[in-house]
Amino acid sequence: MNTISVWRATAPEAGFPMLQEEITTDVVIVGGGITGVTLALNLAEQGTSAVLLEARDLGFGSTGNSTGNLYETISRGIHRIVDRWGQDVAHAVSTARRSALEQIEHRVHKHDIACGFRRCPLYRYATSDDAQERVGTEYQGSLKAGLLVRLENTLPPPFPAPHGRVLVLDNQAQFHPQAYVRGLARQAASHGCRIFENSTVLDVDTDQRLVRTASGKVTAKEIVFATHTPKGFHLVQAEMVVNREYGLATRVSKDSFPAGIFWGSGVDRLSVRTVDTDDANFLVCVGEEHKTGQEDTDISFDRLETAARAHLDIREVELRWSAQNYSPADGLPYIGRDTTDCFIATGFETDGLTYGTVAASLIADEIAGRDNVFAPMVKASRFQPVRGAKGMVEENITVIKSLIKDYVTDRKTIPLSQLTSGEGAIVEFENETLAAYRDPTGSLFAVSPVCTHMKCKVHWNGVETSWDCPCHGSRFAPDGTVIEGPATEPLQRRFLPGQ
Ligand SMILES: Cc1cc2nc3c(=O)[nH]c(=O)nc-3n(C[C@H](O)[C@H](O)[C@H](O)COP(=O)(O)OP(=O)(O)OC[C@H]3O[C@@H](n4cnc5c(N)ncnc54)[C@H](O)[C@@H]3O)c2cc1C
Ligand code: FES
Repeated sequence: MNTISVWRATAPEAGFPMLQEEITTDVVIVGGGITGVTLALNLAEQGTSAVLLEARDLGFGSTGNSTGNLYETISRGIHRIVDRWGQDVAHAVSTARRSALEQIEHRVHKHDIACGFRRCPLYRYATSDDAQERVGTEYQGSLKAGLLVRLENTLPPPFPAPHGRVLVLDNQAQFHPQAYVRGLARQAASHGCRIFENSTVLDVDTDQRLVRTASGKVTAKEIVFATHTPKGFHLVQAEMVVNREYGLATRVSKDSFPAGIFWGSGVDRLSVRTVDTDDANFLVCVGEEHKTGQEDTDISFDRLETAARAHLDIREVELRWSAQNYSPADGLPYIGRDTTDCFIATGFETDGLTYGTVAASLIADEIAGRDNVFAPMVKASRFQPVRGAKGMVEENITVIKSLIKDYVTDRKTIPLSQLTSGEGAIVEFENETLAAYRDPTGSLFAVSPVCTHMKCKVHWNGVETSWDCPCHGSRFAPDGTVIEGPATEPLQRRFLPGQ
């Protein structure tokens, strides 16, 4: 199955060069998603010299594979922040997110970025009776967080009747995230930021303040990991749950669905919106989250399609994709300096288009020596064993179970000779366990199954043709190359006879 998001399928290339020189600058930003690109423009506007290095092309990560919704609340419910941190922190979260949304809107208009930005309502509703109570709880939590919410009895047609009441938050927004980051990057470049694509950072020397790619290096006073999860070893990785989530797009006729952010929770958890591109109108459905490397991707796609069809009258699915999100243990993102004095910005859950914009303002403020009222609440070096205890314990149990399952109990393996074309599996060959993939033409790729981050064993993702690590979400191509996650080293390649 080919996977590409509706955003990446419909946005023009950015076309920045590869780094092939040595540069000294004030700030090096690693990662060209919404966090990195927004920071690039912030720094350029404040006169700080910066270089941005993106491993693939801008928007390649979760930004270009998201749902493109912008909102003041958070998707899992702002009542969770009220319960855990209190009303004032929840209020600060919604205020910071509202400012970020306004900044995006301002920049879209100021720089004339063609990204379909539009204001619209957000609807939160139950798709089954068991989820009704959550809507009421979130209504109360939203009021405490200072959000102007109201309750309605119906959803706009053609959405089916909800189970119970509908929570509405007006004046939220939607855009085309891939078109936005590329438009923003053009502005950052025209203001003096040097941007490079296809420039993977392979090595970071935090003492020398130096990052290296295969064909260049950048020395900078400040290093920012805008890589969604920081590269290498960081305490926050032990605190975060890493999930993959799925998206599909199907063609609809123009105006057959209303503009809006539609979040249904219950037996079926679905996020639904429309997107109008130059060539077609699509309905986008996102859902079916699971821990990375711990479920079969094709089953998740089937489940998402079944859920979408159960609630909406949709035609053939044209585009499918999936992407990763990182959930913090205590409900708040981690933004700021880490213990190596580099900046990190992670733990955005599924709310990072807005949190990434918040993070870029916060980091630009810290670099310029300005106060930022949100900074103390989301400090990257915080460690809250009490407040984060439940999530941490549960997640560390997951990590430990993966290690135990991988190393103490036997994982199912097959002999290499049984591996068919198009199949990936953990195989046995001459008393060695290998992660092997035979491509559709019959070519064989064999690598060590031991993740180079912290030595968990990778699992095959047959839909996206990748080896996914269940511990902290590193993903690798069949030849071992790092696709995403905290790992920096590729899986060790094994060359077998006949390869
Ligand atoms: C299915 C799904 C739907 C979502 N929908 C929404 C939504 O509607 N609204 C919302 O607010 N949030 C949403 N999110 C969350 C949001 O997409 C992310 O939180 C956000 O995009 C993170 O942005 P980022 O720039 O920090 O990271 P990314 O967009 O992941 O960017 C990181 C970049 O770093 C690059 N990189 C990694 N390693 C290196 C390296 N070694 N060298 C150089 N570059 C490197 C990657 O290639 C990547 O481009 C969704 C998430 C998922 C999974
Ligand atoms: S991502 Fe940490 S062990 Fe694999």
